[in-house]
Amino acid sequence: MQPRETEPHGKRAHDTFRAVGSLPPLPAVALRVIRVAQDPKSSASDLAMVLAADPGLSATLLRVVNSAAYRRTREITSVQEALVLLGFIQARNIAISSAITAHYRPDSLNALFRIDAFWRHSLAVAFRAAELAGRMRVDVPGAFTAGVLHNMGRLAMFFGDPAGMDQAVAEAMRRDAALDDVEEELLGIDHGEVGRLLAERWRLPLETREAIAGHHGRGGREPREGSLAALVAEADRYCVGLGLLPGYVVPGRAAAGADAAGLALLNQVGRLMQLVSGEPVGVRG
Ligand SMILES: [Fe+2]
Repeated sequence: MQPRETEPHGKRAHDTFRAVGSLPPLPAVALRVIRVAQDPKSSASDLAMVLAADPGLSATLLRVVNSAAYRRTREITSVQEALVLLGFIQARNIAISSAITAHYRPDSLNALFRIDAFWRHSLAVAFRAAELAGRMRVDVPGAFTAGVLHNMGRLAMFFGDPAGMDQAVAEAMRRDAALDDVEEELLGIDHGEVGRLLAERWRLPLETREAIAGHHGRGGREPREGSLAALVAEADRYCVGLGLLPGYVVPGRAAAGADAAGLALLNQVGRLMQLVSGEPVGVRG
């Protein structure tokens, strides 16, 4: 039997908790891409089949492969061919990122919490976690997906209470503190807990759920060494160190002191965001 969800105390936390239900569900195609990408037995043709079945994703992939960045002499019109030309890993990264990010783009511009900054941080964590996973010979696509999804709880909180999230960002900036600490204090619930609820509803793989819920190791629950949660936590710290804050920008902090690897990561993220959105980075559609 499914355990009952325990509602937190306090009106604000209660509202935030209820707002989890207002976040649109993860699109079915995103779940299929995640499953195929994480199944070691799946091949490029399995991924092509999933992508070809979704008009939005097929269009994105074809737009990318025909974009100026790839300079083709003829137009590519089949998903299968696009996948061969882009390579499995690049196509998978574009598919996962596009399936998830395209679905959660709020219409209104918030004063401080910025969806572009939010996705830039999440994608950077995804790339870094995948790189760490490769070094440790653990599930690379699983690490990439967990990175993209790790702060979904915060996105739900933003959708549920945009003014509250802006207030938390303002306070984090004023105190030069981590948003993770401030949001719990002001909103009464932290994004790991909200993310846990979402991940359960979406029936994500157990390790992904643990990474979303436990990447900050709150309440004395440090992520287990070598786990996906620990990789995401390490990648998260690295990206914050590069100035990629989770949903806002502090002027002057971006890329300060980044070494060659950090600058390469920033470029990789900018490029993926541009490929996925089809727009110059930072411009809202
Ligand atoms: Fe986080």
